[in-house]
Amino acid sequence: MKKVLIATVKPFAPAAVEGIKEVLDKAGYEMVLLEKYESPDDWKKAAADVDAMIIRSDKATQDIIEAASNLKIIVRAGAGYDNVDLDACNKKGVVAMNTPGQNSNAVAELAFGMMLYHVRKGFDGTSGTELRGKKLGIHAYGNVGKFVAEIAKGFGMELYAFDPFVDNKDIEKAGIKPLSSEQELYKTCDFISLHIPSNEKTKKSIGYDLLSLMPKKGALVNTARKEVIDEEGLLKLMAERDDFAYLSDVAPDCREEMENKFPGRYVFTAKKMGAQTAEANINAGIAAATQIVNYLEKGDTTFQVNK
Ligand code: 3PG
Repeated sequence: MKKVLIATVKPFAPAAVEGIKEVLDKAGYEMVLLEKYESPDDWKKAAADVDAMIIRSDKATQDIIEAASNLKIIVRAGAGYDNVDLDACNKKGVVAMNTPGQNSNAVAELAFGMMLYHVRKGFDGTSGTELRGKKLGIHAYGNVGKFVAEIAKGFGMELYAFDPFVDNKDIEKAGIKPLSSEQELYKTCDFISLHIPSNEKTKKSIGYDLLSLMPKKGALVNTARKEVIDEEGLLKLMAERDDFAYLSDVAPDCREEMENKFPGRYVFTAKKMGAQTAEANINAGIAAATQIVNYLEKGDTTFQVNK
């Protein structure tokens, strides 16, 4: 009987676990659940004899991949797979996949939750501002960016996007103005919603030079990864400009400094919670389980990220 381990420090909603189990039961697979584990050693032990793993932001290091000696496939139930050591997977011939698009709406909704919380001053009873008529810049027009655009239309925002990997015609078709550079996007928009992945090229790529181009009362909304921000540059800008705000799903490493120095100009969630909805968990979890069955039964490598 094939064994599939769900290793999640941040558990899926119970309905998602049920959905995953149903898919695996139907295939005749055994599901092993390791939630809220305390150390990588617990994960390593649980991984020792499994054929497949489903994870979220859990760090699938070389150590983990090597400890899972029977592993054939690991699926990151979500979009960003910067937490998976792909070289280690390649060395062991393990297929790595993500489940693109499955949790995108949840992440997009959170971006607006943070924007509203910010412009309404944390709902503190004082007068705030509105999103209608403001310029929203979508930095990377992928799955989340598309949902952000759709929701922004409902709010009556003016839409701009920059994405060198997407044909401008597709951006225009969606009623969005494509801009030709990051600089142009940041210069134009009151809000920037960040959706770039974290990789060697993008790490620390959003810093002082770009952010200082933003208009007065500009705000950067980060539901992507904290690693793409140059925190030194961000802190420098926030010290120089008392109108600028940083709204982030993942609190930065400089969280304490921000909280001490810039009250009212940041929004941080308690923990990374863009994808923390039952719907997103169900979509991503069931997709992950289905992809595992399809790979192990039929060799289907759709969504493989380590080709
Ligand atoms: C993703 O990359 O899909 C999101 O960042 C969600 O991450 P999570 O599953 O850890 O909440």
